[in-house]
Amino acid sequence: MTLEGKVALVTGAGGQGIGAAAARDLAARGAQVVVNYRSNQQRAQEVVESIQAAGGNAHAIQADVIDEGQVLRMVEEIVERYGRLDIMVSTKGGHVPPIAGPRFAGKGEGHFAAIAARVGTRPFTELSWEAFAARVNGELQAAFTITKAVVPVMERQHAGRLIYLSSEHSRGPAAPGMIANGAAKAALNTFVVYLAHELGPLGITANVVSPAMVQVQATRWMQPAAFLERVASATPLGRIAQPEDVARVIAFFASDDSAFMTGVYAPVTGGFGLARL
Ligand SMILES: NC(=O)c1ccc[n+]([C@@H]2O[C@H](COP(=O)([O-])OP(=O)(O)OC[C@H]3O[C@@H](n4cnc5c(N)ncnc54)[C@H](OP(=O)(O)O)[C@@H]3O)[C@@H](O)[C@H]2O)c1
Repeated sequence: MTLEGKVALVTGAGGQGIGAAAARDLAARGAQVVVNYRSNQQRAQEVVESIQAAGGNAHAIQADVIDEGQVLRMVEEIVERYGRLDIMVSTKGGHVPPIAGPRFAGKGEGHFAAIAARVGTRPFTELSWEAFAARVNGELQAAFTITKAVVPVMERQHAGRLIYLSSEHSRGPAAPGMIANGAAKAALNTFVVYLAHELGPLGITANVVSPAMVQVQATRWMQPAAFLERVASATPLGRIAQPEDVARVIAFFASDDSAFMTGVYAPVTGGFGLARL
C-alpha cells in the first residue's frame, strides 16, 4: 500500500498514542504527514523527528480540533505548503473534561472503581446532563469542525479519504462507567455513515476504525499486569492491541486498496467482545 505523493493530516498525533503511530505508518508508506497537536509542542516534534529519522517527511502544526479558527488556519497552511490534502485522520474527540459529581467509588469492580475515581467516568445514575453533554459535544464538535475544514479542499480534488477513530464502547459496555464515551462514539459512527452517503458523489470516502483496548502510554497506569492478562485471555487473538495494529488499518483506509469502501465500521479488536458467554 504505497502513499507516495499523498498529503495526510493526522489530528492528535503529537503524543504517544494511536495518532502518533498512524502518522509514522502513513509516512513510512510515502505520505507527506502533518502531525497535529494541541499543546505539547516538544512531543509533537519528537514524532516528527522519529519520522524524519526513518526517512519520512513530516512537520507539526498546532491547532485545537474544536476551535474552528485554528483548524481553518491549519488547513490553509497545509494547502499553501503542499497545494492539496488527500487524507485526514481524526483521532481526537475534542476536550474530555473530567466529569464532576459524586465518585464512582464502591461501584463495580475495584479496578474500574479506581480508574473512575481518577478519570471521572460515571454510571448513569451519577452522571449530570452537563457532563454527559460535554463529552458528546466534544466528540462531535471535533469531527464536525475538522471535516468542515477539509471537505472543500477534497471536493476541489474530487478525491479524499476521511478516517475517524471510534471505540468498541460505541457498540455496548465493555467496562463500567463509559456511558458518555460510548454514546459519544456511537454518535460519531452514525455521523460518518451520513458523511459517506453525502460525500461519496464528491469522490470522498469516510470510514471508522474502532479499537477495543489499546496499550498506549497515557493509559498504562490503568492497566496493571493482572488486568492486561485478563483482557488478553478474553481476546481470541490472545493479546491486547498496540497502536501500530490500529495504524495499519488506518493506512488501509487511507490507501487506494480501500478505494471502493465507504461508510465502513472496522473493529480492530483481535476478536474481543465476540463471545456472548
Ligand atoms: N487508547 C485506547 O485504548 C483506545 C481504545 C479505543 C479507542 N480509542 C480512541 O482512539 C483515539 C486516540 O486515542 P489515544 O489513546 O491514542 O489518544 P491520546 O494518546 O490520549 O492522544 C494524545 C494526543 O491528542 C492530542 N489532543 C488532545 N486533545 C486535542 C485537541 N482538542 N486538539 C488537537 N489535539 C488534541 C494531544 O495533544 P497535546 O498533548 O499537545 O494536547 C496528543 O497529541 C481516541 O479517539 C480514543 O477514543 C483509544
